[in-house]
Amino acid sequence: ASVPVLTIDGPSGSGKGTISRQVAERLGWHLLDSGALYRAVGYVAGLEGLDLTDADALTRCARELKIRFVPAADGSDTRIIVDGLDATDALRTETAGAAASAVASIPGVRAALVDLQLGFRQPPGLVADGRDMGTVIFPDAPTKVFLTASAAERAARRYKQLKDKGLDVTLEVLQREIEARDARDASRAVAPLKPAPDAVVVDTTGMPIATVVEKVLALVRH
Ligand code: C5P
Repeated sequence: ASVPVLTIDGPSGSGKGTISRQVAERLGWHLLDSGALYRAVGYVAGLEGLDLTDADALTRCARELKIRFVPAADGSDTRIIVDGLDATDALRTETAGAAASAVASIPGVRAALVDLQLGFRQPPGLVADGRDMGTVIFPDAPTKVFLTASAAERAARRYKQLKDKGLDVTLEVLQREIEARDARDASRAVAPLKPAPDAVVVDTTGMPIATVVEKVLALVRH
């Protein structure tokens, strides 16, 4: 039998990151943070001074991407190492999110990252967090979840997350940026953000994290 995959897709601030991490921990499964791959491509492109609309250069960047996820020993955030350097802090800003969304709309970039993502499917199982995990990358996943929440709540969650990490943001600006990013992700030609036909849509507005985690675990165990 093939290795089981739980796909968790949804817009930014839907709680995907937190839920995916906790569910993977509970199941003892591997975790794929696919957004980090697009963020890393945008980050390297920035370092190299590439134009975010130069499809050929960005595709090459994605093909050559060297990224490693290193779990922190003290239980804090997983460190993301890009080209040998710790890029964790640079990758979590909303600027990095916007750059990720720009490079993610380029078909060559997406194609270049497919095998890397498939490689995360290792026993005993994988929780895959992203926008197209259930629709494009793991269409045969036995369990697919699509997380949503109201736009106001998603912006408020991202605001708290970034504030907790010590970033200087305002709720109004963040809400506008997130709306622009989600609109771009949902309207792009390749792998647009949308639930797979066989995904269970969970609206997490007003729902505590622990409740969402139990709901998702129940879907995996059905
Ligand atoms: O999930 P995260 O906020 O880190 O994703 C950053 C951006 O990367 C998204 O806004 C989206 O444009 C892109 N992305 C994608 N496909 C994925 C994961 C992320 O296009 N599977």
